[in-house]
Amino acid sequence: MRILMTAGPTREYLDDVRYLSNASSGRMGYALAADAVARGHQVILVSGPVELAPPKGCEVRFVQTTEEMRIACEQAFPSCDGVIAAAAVCDYKPSQRVTGKMSKTGEPLTIELIETDDVLAGLGRKKNSRWIVGFALEATNSRENALQKLRAKNCDVVVLNNPSAIGSMTNSVELIDESGQPIESWNGSKEEVAHELLNWIEQRWK
Ligand code: CTP
Repeated sequence: MRILMTAGPTREYLDDVRYLSNASSGRMGYALAADAVARGHQVILVSGPVELAPPKGCEVRFVQTTEEMRIACEQAFPSCDGVIAAAAVCDYKPSQRVTGKMSKTGEPLTIELIETDDVLAGLGRKKNSRWIVGFALEATNSRENALQKLRAKNCDVVVLNNPSAIGSMTNSVELIDESGQPIESWNGSKEEVAHELLNWIEQRWK
């Protein structure tokens, strides 16, 4: 199969040197990419800034902002059989990016934030016969929220995890389908979880 994968955080710049982001390491997405390549799949990895070396054998597109991630994904998706969206995308960005560097004024600073594009929802609208595996990072009402995301983003299944996954070596996930119930659950190193998820995807769509 030819698989699009997203990984890592995005960054949203306030000015040329400062940005909003999150603590995603990219480890889950990179583990998925490595496992898929090892199985002989073609992988297009759209990655935010991370400190990991990209797995050998993937086609990698490095991006920083959510908009760059959206453009790279929209370009790649039509040639792919499916997508696994493990990226921790910034949901908000400053309404304006200042050119150069903002200076201190001695006064409190208020920054207006506006929503970024939803990369996965955009792919969901152009799904056609492709499959879509989303992720959902939930602290409360986890299964309900995961189901809502599955519907809003036109996913086939959602990998539900919780905030302790961010920046961690391990993960504990449930795979939620349109019933809203877990059809699988896995925990272990991110490599182990990636392997189980790819086993499941291969059985479902090969
Ligand atoms: N996602 C995306 N673009 C965004 C936000 C999220 O593509 N702007 C993708 C993520 O890669 C993940 C899924 O959507 O596969 C769910 O991400 P998550 O952060 O759990 O949820 P959000 O949709 O951002 O909603 P919220 O933060 O309100 O829970």
